[in-house]
Formats: sequence, C-alpha cells, structure tokens
Amino acid sequence: MKGDCAVDPRPIGVFDSGLGGLTVVKELMAQLPNENIVYFGDTARLPYGTRSRETIIKYSIQCIRFLLTQNIKAVVIACNTASSMALETVKEVFDLPIIGVVEPGAAHAVKATRNGKVGIIGTEATVQSGSYARAIARLNPGIHTRSVACSLFVPIVEEGWSDTPIAYLTAERYLAPLKEWGADTLILGCTHYPLLMNTISKVMGPHVTLINPAVSTVHEVKRILEQGDMLNDNHNQPQYRYYVSDFSQKFKQIGSRFLNREIIYAGKVDIENY
Ligand code: DGL
Repeated sequence: MKGDCAVDPRPIGVFDSGLGGLTVVKELMAQLPNENIVYFGDTARLPYGTRSRETIIKYSIQCIRFLLTQNIKAVVIACNTASSMALETVKEVFDLPIIGVVEPGAAHAVKATRNGKVGIIGTEATVQSGSYARAIARLNPGIHTRSVACSLFVPIVEEGWSDTPIAYLTAERYLAPLKEWGADTLILGCTHYPLLMNTISKVMGPHVTLINPAVSTVHEVKRILEQGDMLNDNHNQPQYRYYVSDFSQKFKQIGSRFLNREIIYAGKVDIENY
C-alpha cells in the first residue's frame, strides 16, 4: 500500500445474471467491511450460462456501463460464465480494475487438492469454455480435472429451493460421476452454487473440499485496491445499493435471507439502454 491510510469512498461495482453474485458480495462485506458496494443482478436476462460468447460479452459490457454511472472504482464480475467468456474483452474496453472469479478460484483449488483430482461444476457455458481447466493447467499441469455442467442448479437457487429434497436429488445425479472418479476438491464454478453448499457437501461427503471462488476473489480485490491506493479506510457505515433488470421481490427475499441483512430496496434498471 502506498499511503498509510487510503480513503477512496467510491463503491465497488459487482454484477451477475441474478442472485448468485451475492455470494461474492457476502465475502466482500466480510473481508472489506469499509467498502461501499453497488450490485447489479441482470435478472431479466438470466440465465447467462446457456448463451453464446457474443451475447455474454454484450451483456457484460452493458452491466459495466450501468455500474459506471454509479461512480465505481473497480468491477467484480461475480459470475463465472461472464468471467470465462468476457473478462479479457471487457478489460480491453474499460479503463478501471476488473476482477473475475475464475483465476482466483483455480488457484485456491490447486492449493487445496491432495490427490491431484479437481472436479469443476458450472454452467454449460463455463464448462464448455474450459476456463478452469486451463487456469489450473497453467498453475500445475500435473493436476487432473473433470467438469460437469449442472444446468438445473441456477433455477433451483433462484426459486429458493436450495435446501429441499429436489435440490438434493438433482445434486446426487449431477455429482455422481465426480464422486466415483474420486475428486478430493470440487470448485463451485458458478456464483449461485455456494447457496447450495449444504446440499452439495451432503452429497460429496466430508472428505471433499468445496471451493467457493468468492473467497480468493475477494483476496485479489483487496490486493488490487491496496496496490492502487484505492481502499476505503473510512469507518463510516458502508452503503450497499442493489439494482436488478426485472422483478425485484424474489431477489430481495432470497437475497436478504442469504446475506443475513435486509435488502430493503432494489432499483429496476432498463439494461438495454446501456
Ligand atoms: N451465476 C452465474 C455464474 O457464476 C451464472 C448463472 C447463469 O446465469 O446461468 O456462472
């Protein structure tokens, strides 16, 4: 850190296709409790995980353009799909720090595995992109990876069914091949999946380490803000603002439960205008 006490009160901008990115927000709140945060959930266009690269890049650019109207100092792409498909492009388009979740999540898994078998679960688009497997191979080519797309997990989470028998049976079906293969580490490669942590952990059993990439992503955010002298060391009550592109009621309900803090208001944004 350059100065002794940085005070940059501008918020950190965070986006995802829906509720999932709140798993990253929760981690930001825990690790960087002085930071102001603006969250955008693109609920009108969820899911991202079944869309083409071009569409995901277009959506990501629009989300960042909206967040820039909020005077943000950095962007966290709290979406594995957008991090896998759009991170490189948006870094070229915008001139501010932009942090994705894939590289930090991969680094965390490489440190955690003992038997060198890392399972990856994510959306169709994330799995097809091979982003995690590549990031892991760059860090340690000796580690084996296997990936499974779990397309039904996102609607289950958005529906508020994370801790139900439906979630459990769905998880059993998706995760069986990774269990049989003997993965000792499993990357929750979609920001919605930490909301299914209990269910996934019950299915995988106590000997499998579940990696929530949000944890290491926020370490990276902290490092980058420190380096740029952009932390907010001001101990005033931080401000959290939420926006969505469609119906906010469910977002508020499930989001408040998950964050253990009430989302009183979520503004509606016409994202196609950005
Ligand atoms: N939560 C997002 C991710 O991390 C995407 C879910 C979706 O919209 O398909 O991949």
